[in-house]
Amino acid sequence: MEQVPNQNRADRSQRPLPRHVGIIMDGNGRWAQRRGLPRSAGHKEGAKNFKRIAKYCNRIGIQYLTVYAFSTENWKRPALEIKALMLLFKQYLKEALDEFEEENIQIRFLGDTSVFSSDLQELIRQTQEAAKKQTGMVLNIAMNYGGRAELVSAVKAICAKVTSGELEQNEIDEATISQYLDTAGQPDPDLIIRPSGEYRTSNFLLWQSAYAEYLFMDILWPDFTPENLEEALDAYAHRNRRFGGVTPV
Ligand code: IPE
Ligand code: IPE
Ligand code: MG
Repeated sequence: MEQVPNQNRADRSQRPLPRHVGIIMDGNGRWAQRRGLPRSAGHKEGAKNFKRIAKYCNRIGIQYLTVYAFSTENWKRPALEIKALMLLFKQYLKEALDEFEEENIQIRFLGDTSVFSSDLQELIRQTQEAAKKQTGMVLNIAMNYGGRAELVSAVKAICAKVTSGELEQNEIDEATISQYLDTAGQPDPDLIIRPSGEYRTSNFLLWQSAYAEYLFMDILWPDFTPENLEEALDAYAHRNRRFGGVTPV
């Protein structure tokens, strides 16, 4: 990971904070394998860490946090691992429902959740209902999410509007596409962090990340601490975001 000047650490309250942070929570399996444990033990530790980091982000004033919990490609994993993950989702959503309510965090879901078991879907419904009363950080949990699948759904929905005459084809612009994504109405991510040492997006927020700052960190997700997050935020504060323009002098 890139070096952050030490003097900056003292002055964290002054640095520009990203409004929207994305995290690809990767490395659970390797964390467990290095300890001779089953991969599911890594997922459990990763889920615990998800709660810790989400609360921390809310407390320091991050307005939107999107975590990648399960991708559309993760169904390729062994049935036993998927089963363990589904059990964890249920357990941690139940816990999050109480704990995040206390913390005023608004949970939303990205991805097609209609494929999950009926009890998991019911939990998702309750969580989203509770979120309507909250006013703190928006926490998007991407589950059965893939950036490509999200774009396919958006294209289909837009085509249906054109066919029904509710939308003119030549009215379609970038804002129209954004409105049909699962993140509709939310700002694009400013910073995307991927722990685990992999340097790829793995189908995360494809459209929304056009101008996101990426930070790849060589640490496994269960080991990722609030201090690692602070390091990422320090690195972000030193980025020069130009959005295709030039740096003002
Ligand atoms: C991320 O950890 C969690 C999910 C994808 C559900 P991994 O399970 O991908 O961990 P590694 O990459 O194999 O270490
Ligand atoms: C990305 O991690 C998805 C999640 C963290 C949920 P993967 O472990 O599935 O990604 P690849 O297979 O290494 O690209
Ligand atoms: Mg992985």
